[in-house]
Formats: sequence, structure tokens, C-alpha cells
Amino acid sequence: MSPNRSSLGQDAPSHATPLDPARVADLQQRAIAVAHHAYAPYSNFRVGAAVLLTDGTIVTGCNVENASYRLTVCAEQAAIASAVSLHGPKIRIRAIAVANLNNTASQPCGACRQTIHEFSTPDTVVFFPVEGGAVAEATLAALLPAAFLLTNS
Ligand code: THU
Repeated sequence: MSPNRSSLGQDAPSHATPLDPARVADLQQRAIAVAHHAYAPYSNFRVGAAVLLTDGTIVTGCNVENASYRLTVCAEQAAIASAVSLHGPKIRIRAIAVANLNNTASQPCGACRQTIHEFSTPDTVVFFPVEGGAVAEATLAALLPAAFLLTNS
């Protein structure tokens, strides 16, 4: 890249097959279902995440809180850690749906965006609840346009 150009906020063009709405609905239902497993005695904010991998596999996770608050694991991070544990380090995320049982708008936190980024592609999309009970869709690139990258050169 020339030193005068910045890639911040620029999305690579998508060549992915659009996601079937039924598949998205299934992903959301799985996120809601796993949110019932959440361990959230401190916030009472129960979150579930369902990750659709590029090979079609789905893995879910929920938030797991801790009395030492900063040790809390978000639902997205739990799902992704589980996906790597089950399917190995080469997984790539096609989509991730996030839901909560509080019927409230909630976007993935910054740390979760960076965690999704680690296994994302230019086509990775995120579904999350917004006002009025609707579900919004955004590319990970739009949610985290300037992700941290580790370069050792
Ligand atoms: N939480 C998630 O699981 N994912 C997010 O993206 C945002 C926050 C959890 C962490 C904590 O257990 C509770 O929601 C309140 O912050």
C-alpha cells in the first residue's frame, strides 16, 4: 500500500453467497437458546452467541461472569473459544448472531469485535438486537474498521 493511502474503514468487496434468511433465523434462535445457559448473577444480562463457520458448522456460547468482574467472558468470546476448541485454529466465521434475554438493544462490545476479527473474513457479518425488537446486520469490517493487527516486521 502506498504511504499516502489508508485502508481504515474500507471494506473489501464481498463475493460470498448471501445468507439464507432461514439460516439467519436459525442462528438467532440458537443464540437465544444458549443465552438461557448464561451465568450472569452480577449483571443479570444473559447473552448468547451463535457462530456460523464458513464450512456451515454452528457453535454457540454464552456469557460466563465472575465475582472478580473483569474475568467475565462474553458470549461471543465463549462461542469462538468453543469453535476453536472443537474445530481447530483454521476456523473462519461467516456470521455470528448475538441475542440477550433482556429484550434490549445490544451491540457486541469492542473486545468481542476484536475477537471476531481474529477469525473473520471480508464477508463476516454480525447480527445483533436493536431498538424495537428488530435485528440489525453489519459487517465486522464496519463494526471494527481499524482492528488491531500484530505485525512483526
Ligand atoms: N456481554 C456479552 O456477553 N457480550 C457483549 O458483547 C457485551 C456484554 C456480557 C458481559 C457481561 O456478562 C454482561 O453482558 C454485561 O456486560
